Amino acid sequence: MALQLSEVISEHEFTSIAHVLYAAFHEPFNPFYELLNNTQGTYEEQIQAKAARHAEAWKDDPARHWLKITDSSNNNEVIAAASWLIYEEAPESSKAPIDAQWQPEGSIIREFTSRWLGAIVGSQQHALQKPHLVIDQLATHPSHRNSGAANMLLQWGLEQADRLGLEIMVNAVPAGLTYYQHFGFVDKGVVDPDMTIEEPSDEWKRLQKIDKHLYWMTRPPTCS
Ligand SMILES: CC(C)(COP(=O)(O)OP(=O)(O)OC[C@H]1O[C@@H](n2cnc3c(N)ncnc32)[C@H](O)[C@@H]1OP(=O)(O)O)[C@@H](O)C(=O)NCCC(=O)NCCS
Repeated sequence: MALQLSEVISEHEFTSIAHVLYAAFHEPFNPFYELLNNTQGTYEEQIQAKAARHAEAWKDDPARHWLKITDSSNNNEVIAAASWLIYEEAPESSKAPIDAQWQPEGSIIREFTSRWLGAIVGSQQHALQKPHLVIDQLATHPSHRNSGAANMLLQWGLEQADRLGLEIMVNAVPAGLTYYQHFGFVDKGVVDPDMTIEEPSDEWKRLQKIDKHLYWMTRPPTCS
């Protein structure tokens, strides 16, 4: 394999990235994938919806950078991708409630996801009110693991963080815990908001039971 790192510069690149993210978060299976994605429709429809959503979020936010790894020995296939948020200034805290717009309008899963994400953001708001970096996505296609692709994507952000002297934050899925520890991230505690409500529907109860705990991890800048 001949791996190359490049920054995403066009919205058309998100379709191949969506294929990678889909595969990566199904192996190992991420039990709360259905919260963060609209899982209705065919595989192709889901990929198109996912690609469009990531492209929109990327276009709307100058702090957001997408990096991809391609294999030049195999037709420049995209095999891994990462999304970094770089806040050189403290980001403004948003007072607007989160709305999981990717979920069907009026659905329980939309209400549940919005509330769940709102609780996570609310509990971390204070820590985020300063210049910092966030790893929002990091994934390597299961067929191309252990070739150093994620390493290259992570290294890109670690260098930015160290150059700017900023802390990196990530809400890691359980499968990512030991991975990030390997790179000097420290586990600051489990993130698992209480989703209890009065008189929950069966669907709400089902979503409540999904294992969706995350690890809040940080890495301070290192001096060279
Ligand atoms: C975690 C993940 C991104 C690693 O991708 P990868 O391209 O196979 O990783 P690399 O080949 O670059 O490995 C980088 C290093 O991390 C180590 N590593 C890889 N997976 C690891 C794990 N689960 N735990 C600890 N270390 C791990 C490798 O041994 C390697 O170490 P080295 O540099 O000392 O040789 C990939 O397994 C994945 O996509 N998982 C599903 C999604 C996910 O969990 N994302 C991260 C959390 S949000």
